[in-house]
Amino acid sequence: MSRPKISIIGAGNVGANTALFLFLKDLGDIVLYDLKGDLAKGKALDIMHLASIWGTNSFVTGTGNIDDIAGSDLVVITAGKRRTADMTRDDLLSQNGEIITKIVDNIQQKSPNSFIVVVTNPLDAMAHLALEISNFEPSRVMGMSGVLDAGRLAHFIREKHRVATENILTTVLGGHGDSMVPVSSNSFIGGRPLKHILDPGEIEEVIERTRKAGGEIIQLMGTSSMYAPAAAVWKMAQAILHDEKTILPCSVYLQGEYKLSDVFLSVPVLLGKTGVEEIIELPLEKKELKALHKSADEVKELTRKLNIN
Ligand code: 2OP
Repeated sequence: MSRPKISIIGAGNVGANTALFLFLKDLGDIVLYDLKGDLAKGKALDIMHLASIWGTNSFVTGTGNIDDIAGSDLVVITAGKRRTADMTRDDLLSQNGEIITKIVDNIQQKSPNSFIVVVTNPLDAMAHLALEISNFEPSRVMGMSGVLDAGRLAHFIREKHRVATENILTTVLGGHGDSMVPVSSNSFIGGRPLKHILDPGEIEEVIERTRKAGGEIIQLMGTSSMYAPAAAVWKMAQAILHDEKTILPCSVYLQGEYKLSDVFLSVPVLLGKTGVEEIIELPLEKKELKALHKSADEVKELTRKLNIN
């Protein structure tokens, strides 16, 4: 059985770290593409130099030739402008919309049977655009956001209540932005609901910190996050390529779930060999469902600006 072929579009911080995570986990053979071909080649070579040190048999190949993504099983799109401290993710809409359109056109032609995982911001709108341009089934096009946001919420909870990461289950729904909906009613520490352990002020604090976490990173580093997004992509890619049937929060195309349609939002989905195999509807409190619909309205308004038919 041949090894999966995974192509990563964009050899910037997120793309290169995604290549590293997938490589270290021996998930398949990786093509790391960038317009700056030498950048991609150099980062791929740097990763390959650790293969025998780490004991991994995968290959990472850097390239500036988009034809090299042909026949991919899964394509990760990280290319695009990054936001700066004075920008919101939404400010990237038109520039990154053009970039995503060109990239997905190529994916549609060169890897017509692949899964697409979008990372580029504004995430939900870019994932929607990728679905339209690719004309793939919705089960094969998703955005990486919820795994990252839920991981952030878990960290902020652990800062207040030190337990093993495996004992924390967090849920974040909605758009990947300030309107995201960290769901405290579906977040647990060792099986106990969050509200049984943290007081209301602490819960509000960890929720707000999760919403602002991307911006906090930019303020501190002067550039956007890279390690946690890369790890989140690995989690999704492995669930699909290993047919794990893992339930993860991903930005997917809703068609009636949560009483929402024609919008990409992060919700819990079951990921397996055919991609999004089930969209899971959580029992939400009224205020949580209202917040999710508000988030959906914001994502829809932004997506409409792309003039997707
Ligand atoms: C973040 O939240 C870049 O959207 C990414 O850090």
